[in-house]
Amino acid sequence: MNHFLDIHKTDKADLRAIIDGARDMKDRRNGRPKAATDDETPLKDHMVALIFEKPSTRTRVSFDVGVRQLGGQTMVLSGADMQLGHGETIADTARVLSRYVDLIMIRTFDESVLEEMAEYASVPVINGLTDRSHPCQIMADVMTFEEHRGPIKGKKVVWCGDGNNVCASFLHAAGQFGFDLTFTGPVQLDPEMEFVGFARGEGSKVLIERDPFKAVEGADLVLADTWVSMHDAQSARERRHNMLRPYQVNRELMDAAKPDALFMHCLPAHRGEEVTSEVMDGPNSVIWDEAENRLHAQKAIMRWCLNK
Ligand code: CP
Ligand code: NVA
Repeated sequence: MNHFLDIHKTDKADLRAIIDGARDMKDRRNGRPKAATDDETPLKDHMVALIFEKPSTRTRVSFDVGVRQLGGQTMVLSGADMQLGHGETIADTARVLSRYVDLIMIRTFDESVLEEMAEYASVPVINGLTDRSHPCQIMADVMTFEEHRGPIKGKKVVWCGDGNNVCASFLHAAGQFGFDLTFTGPVQLDPEMEFVGFARGEGSKVLIERDPFKAVEGADLVLADTWVSMHDAQSARERRHNMLRPYQVNRELMDAAKPDALFMHCLPAHRGEEVTSEVMDGPNSVIWDEAENRLHAQKAIMRWCLNK
């Protein structure tokens, strides 16, 4: 069994196999004939626990649907309703859940919760987002880029705004999939240098450029995310908005990238804040494919975790 905790902690060959598997399953759902060897319900007789300590639309629905499409069943649990939210340790929760279910997906705050769950669970654990990373999202994003533009290796990706959890997983992916990443945002919100160092150590060119227009020159993919993440204090909202306003992705900024540059956003988006509706709904945006691909990518991740 394999845990899927982070992109930089997963073998490059496994990451590639997951993306290929996701493409394959998507093609089959879109009508490509099945081979005699295709197992359509590898999760038959499997129960999957989906634990949420933060809100979610895409992660919740795409995992739930994905498990069912693979023939398994799900149990969606809110952290607050579990004893976990009332003092039971993560380790004890992990041990108990492992006696009932075959796979655990958790969305939580501190990454240590995910790590402890993985340490004490005897079934695979999947990271459904922490304050520090969001690997399932970026697997879907790599898949989406490659569907539209071919291999992501060697491409230029530009992250605009807050160097947050989603940006962190993009840095991990830059190292593992071999693309370059330019971060453009205020110095106070730079990504963690540990993750910049990881990507550079794997040979990716990672640049920090304060001028968003310079940053997007030659970009193949432009990315935005919310200016206030779920783990950020609401009291910091105004300060963050003031710092981040120059990094809004709007038509002028997209015009400074390559003409065929794609735009992606993990969603939920705040239209008129980090991105304009003109860009979200414009010809370069692939946000709905990106959201759909969460389903396919996560099905492939679950199969990899369970060796199915
Ligand atoms: N992108 C993403 O993870 O969305 P949700 O918060 O709706 O799950
Ligand atoms: N950075 C955002 C991503 C939401 C999917 C957050 O953590 O709230």
